Amino acid sequence: MARVIKIFDTTLRDGEQSPGASLSVSEKVTIAHQLAALNVDIIEAGFPISSPEDLEAVRRIALEVQGPIICGLARTMEDDIDSCGEALKDCPRPRIHTFVGTSPVHLAKKLGKTPAEVLDMAVTAVKLARERCDDVEFSPEDAMRTDWQFLGEIVQATIEAGATTINIPDTVGYATPWEMTSTIEYLREHVPNIDQCTISVHCHDDLGMSVANSLAAVKAGAGQVECTINGMGERAGNASLEEIVMALKTRADEFDVITNVRTQQIIKTSRMVSNLMGFVVQPNKAIVGANAFAHEAGIHQHGVIMDRQTYEIMRPEDVGLSESVLTLGRRSGRHGLRQRLTELGYEVTDEQLDEVYQRFLEVADKKKQVYDEDLQAIMREATAQVPETWRLVDLQTTSGTMPTATVKLEKQGETFVDAACGNGPVDAAYQAIDRITGVSLTLEDYSVRSVSMGRDAIGEATVKVKRNGQEAIGKASSTDIVEASAKAYLNAINRLLVRETRAVTGGGEAGR
Ligand code: KIV
Ligand code: ZN
Repeated sequence: MARVIKIFDTTLRDGEQSPGASLSVSEKVTIAHQLAALNVDIIEAGFPISSPEDLEAVRRIALEVQGPIICGLARTMEDDIDSCGEALKDCPRPRIHTFVGTSPVHLAKKLGKTPAEVLDMAVTAVKLARERCDDVEFSPEDAMRTDWQFLGEIVQATIEAGATTINIPDTVGYATPWEMTSTIEYLREHVPNIDQCTISVHCHDDLGMSVANSLAAVKAGAGQVECTINGMGERAGNASLEEIVMALKTRADEFDVITNVRTQQIIKTSRMVSNLMGFVVQPNKAIVGANAFAHEAGIHQHGVIMDRQTYEIMRPEDVGLSESVLTLGRRSGRHGLRQRLTELGYEVTDEQLDEVYQRFLEVADKKKQVYDEDLQAIMREATAQVPETWRLVDLQTTSGTMPTATVKLEKQGETFVDAACGNGPVDAAYQAIDRITGVSLTLEDYSVRSVSMGRDAIGEATVKVKRNGQEAIGKASSTDIVEASAKAYLNAINRLLVRETRAVTGGGEAGR
């Protein structure tokens, strides 16, 4: 019978470490629900000690998301493990994942410890974690640059201490598939108690080999793969969940394993993560890119018309791509809107529905058809939960040789108007907003993209701003991209102001 490979999703932990990606607690909970619908086996929900927001996200996911095991990350420190235990305390299926660096460079330069000291730290941490939960994972960080003999010793000792999963991370994406195979084979041959745990792998994509390395490990006997939606993660990212799952499924003849993933949920999950993290998926990305199932060349189109299998090795419907793009329009009622929102995974109260319906009508007035992506953009705004300290009332811009913007903002019932010139209408609007709000900040990143189809598509603007060492991401959407840009900028300012107020009143600072 085919082995079942456990899929450990770390989008909300390693994936969220992607530079520029940041999610609110409620956005993390939304994604976790979708990961449960995708039927991953384990969700790594966060690193509770890293911030109060991460702790809260793990706690809420542990309570609210049914099905998968919910895992929290901890260094081999007592406080980290306590914090994980606290976040997971009412979770029906908790896991603590503890890690420490084991490669020569990590021992010498990062930790300043001997191998014996690090082994001791790992064993103590695993024992401590086992006092809080029965399911404990240990990772020798940078395992693929670790001396094999030491790797074998620490793996054996942590299994003896109670680790139920041993994860082998290629932390810096250095390994080749052949090295992955030989490392897993070495551990299976030389660690006497290795059969008492699940062997896992966790590959980064610095050399573009993370998926190949993960698959090589599966072939060599690994029973768990750690991965992220859209390959999000530190630096070049982690191995992509959708690529691993679809490779195992499509090449079952080669791997003879199965996963529990409901592949028809892949596209929906990918789009949700891309939208909420503000990271556009490249069009030619395997499985989930816009072109992954598109055929351009005449010869290919002809072949596909005759028989899809000429140029398609997977069926689009198996990853959740449907032909139906038409959704709602101006004449649709609340009932139809609620029905579609439920199908898209949003549960709304009657009160929320009123607000969302108003926004839906505004969009429907400007567009003939309102697509799923438009609804997702509306929902992101409605659930962003950032108090609108500053609200955009009106915006007039001119472009040409001297672009100008006149901006009207409202704060606590009072309106303020100012105008400015800039390098373009967006820059002019930002300068006018700076003058009104008096909040001085640096614009670190700005992007705008179309989230739906057609000339009247909704444009979603994402900005990253920095002030006094604090970063904030702002997002907003509109059929007018200058308006979306101004609203996204105000959204980021409002987020910063909320944090500053919390810090002053002692409400805690998330540090992201
Ligand atoms: O890449 C890595 O080594 C990690 C560990 C925490 C597993 O993310
Ligand atoms: Zn990692």
